[in-house]
Amino acid sequence: MNEIQLAAEIEERKSITNWSNRKIEMETWNSLFEAARRAPSSWNHQPARYIAANEKADIQALCNTLHRTNSWAEKAAGLIIQVAAPEDDDRIDGKEYYLYDCGLAMMSLIYQAQVLGVTTRQMIGWDEAAVKSLLMIPDRYRVVVITGLGYPSESAFSEQAALFKRRFTAQHKRFDMKHLVFWKKWGYEV
Ligand SMILES: Cc1cc2nc3c(=O)[nH]c(=O)nc-3n(C[C@H](O)[C@H](O)[C@H](O)COP(=O)(O)O)c2cc1C
Repeated sequence: MNEIQLAAEIEERKSITNWSNRKIEMETWNSLFEAARRAPSSWNHQPARYIAANEKADIQALCNTLHRTNSWAEKAAGLIIQVAAPEDDDRIDGKEYYLYDCGLAMMSLIYQAQVLGVTTRQMIGWDEAAVKSLLMIPDRYRVVVITGLGYPSESAFSEQAALFKRRFTAQHKRFDMKHLVFWKKWGYEV
């Protein structure tokens, strides 16, 4: 079978956090949010809102609200807090589409970051009440995801260590295609 051709950004994206001290330029921040803004959403409801933290003190304050396994976030050049109000989007048979639409927008942002050489790691391990209180987020919004980002360190050792950790914890693994995709009917393989 021929090698499958993927876009370089899809091929290369990894949630590794071997970040350098380099700051993210305002132009880059703006392009990330523009990529998110252009994402599709159900009936164009556009439920996602963002709070960006790019100063050390603000990042550190947010880190105090995170689960301790997310201490890697302290090294980030920035944290993006994505929030949305469930009632701003569709709810169909109990399915909350604000979550789906937020995911689409964050994925666009992440691939734009990858194009610009910025790597990202998302997280859901935090105390929502503490995040909302710290950032003065109104009650009707839920915190959907927090994404850490930064330019990767130029140290080959730090990159190798991050890649090793990713492989060791099996984060590079994906289900076989045959478990994911069926043709014509559920359970059918070609
Ligand atoms: C919704 C979501 C929540 C996640 N939460 C965390 C988290 O709390 N802490 C963490 O270290 N990584 C978190 N991750 C990163 C995943 O573990 C990572 O994407 C997965 O292992 C696949 O690795 P890859 O992104 O490098 O391909 C999260 C990712 C997503 C999409």
